[in-house]
Amino acid sequence: MKINENDVDKAISSLTSAYMAKTKRSRELFEYAQRVLPGGATYHIRYFSPYPLYMSKAKGSKIWDVDGNEYDDYWMGHGAHILGHAPDFVVEAVNEVSRSGTHLGFENEYAVRYAELLTRVIPNAEMVRFCNSGTEANMYAVRLARAYTKRRYIVKIEGGWHGSLDQLHVALTPPFHGAESLGILEEFIKYTIAVPYNDLDKLENTLRNFDVAAILIEPVPGSGGCIEPEPNYLKEVRRLADAYGALLIFDEVITGFRLALGGAQEYFNVKADLVVLGKIVGGGYPGAGAFAGPSEYMELLNHLKYPNPRQRVFHGGTFTGNTISMVAGYTTIKYLYENRHLYDEFNYRWSSTAKKLDEVCQEFNRICWITSVGSMIGIHFTSSKPRNIAEAYMNRLSEKIYKALHMYMIVNGIVYMTANMPHLMPSIVHTEEQAKRLVATFTQFLSYITNYVKMSTS
Ligand SMILES: Cc1ncc(COP(=O)(O)O)c(C=O)c1O
Repeated sequence: MKINENDVDKAISSLTSAYMAKTKRSRELFEYAQRVLPGGATYHIRYFSPYPLYMSKAKGSKIWDVDGNEYDDYWMGHGAHILGHAPDFVVEAVNEVSRSGTHLGFENEYAVRYAELLTRVIPNAEMVRFCNSGTEANMYAVRLARAYTKRRYIVKIEGGWHGSLDQLHVALTPPFHGAESLGILEEFIKYTIAVPYNDLDKLENTLRNFDVAAILIEPVPGSGGCIEPEPNYLKEVRRLADAYGALLIFDEVITGFRLALGGAQEYFNVKADLVVLGKIVGGGYPGAGAFAGPSEYMELLNHLKYPNPRQRVFHGGTFTGNTISMVAGYTTIKYLYENRHLYDEFNYRWSSTAKKLDEVCQEFNRICWITSVGSMIGIHFTSSKPRNIAEAYMNRLSEKIYKALHMYMIVNGIVYMTANMPHLMPSIVHTEEQAKRLVATFTQFLSYITNYVKMSTS
């Protein structure tokens, strides 16, 4: 099928006019922001044309922009808010602790309690260290894997996102080759190899030919479009890691506490050697990161056992284990621990919503495909259902239709990100009614765009 991009352009321009009519204050802010923030934004993925939404408040499953428009939020702070925005009991716990100091800079009981809770809920995690972001946590996990195995190479997935650490900021978008930023030297990335998701042959070939310290993988690639692992893929990745003596690192920055309380390890019943956490682990507050694993690996960080810094792995930082992140995270995860049953309904609601969205794609001549695992939902306008991130980019019927959908949803009160790769991450407090609204609005969009746009089968 081919989509006439000129027609999509017309749809986008009509939708953009509607967007601009309701977001005047965002436009003003953008104009000013460009003078003081490069590109008018603090993170380019939040930008979309003609200008991004500037948000002012959020509660539960809703978010409001500076013009007072209300949206159902499917971005949820980059997926950090599993219990919705600002749950009262978490905010109260944080306010309470911050009255006794915002950052003590010493060891504190909250970090001990939180680490203990995490070792109870995360499979295979006997010990934990806290960091300030998913990027940092990946950095330390990779360092630890290299130290433990005394090997050099890291295998990652093409399109897999692990944060902007130099050595991992590689092979993110087509053609999936090399560093994706200026300033990253070839020398920094020469020990990073990317292979396609769901491709065991390429993975095994790499493991056979290089001294691989670790396979670093998002069990379900999130920003790559919530691609589904094929049956047994993750189990086979585990087997291959063992067979070739590499550690398996699950980057569970998105999947952690989302697919199940114990994350993807629990959901797929596959154990990782090291688990990287971010987003939800911070209870919706900044400073969200941790890595965890069996003491056999984690003890390499032990300064008592290895007083000589050259014989241990360094980890640390000013805000590590700060009381705000610890209390926010602990309060959130403890609630989920005590209400584990919530995951059944949560996963059921969003997997059945994903199924309905996919049925709508089917009704509209397979102009699109939905990929999903639990509450992670990807929308793809591709010629077939993508089995890896490269296919999600390279088999597109149209680039512009993504933008048209994004604008249409915003104009109709639904936000998700990104405009270029929709990956929706609802929270536990999103309701059935909102799920229905999502399906209805998506259906209306397909009807709108297929009326607007000429499609030919060739
Ligand atoms: C799977 C994954 N890993 C790592 C990161 C980086 O985390 P942070 O942005 O907290 O550094 C992200 C962020 O989106 C992510 O999705």
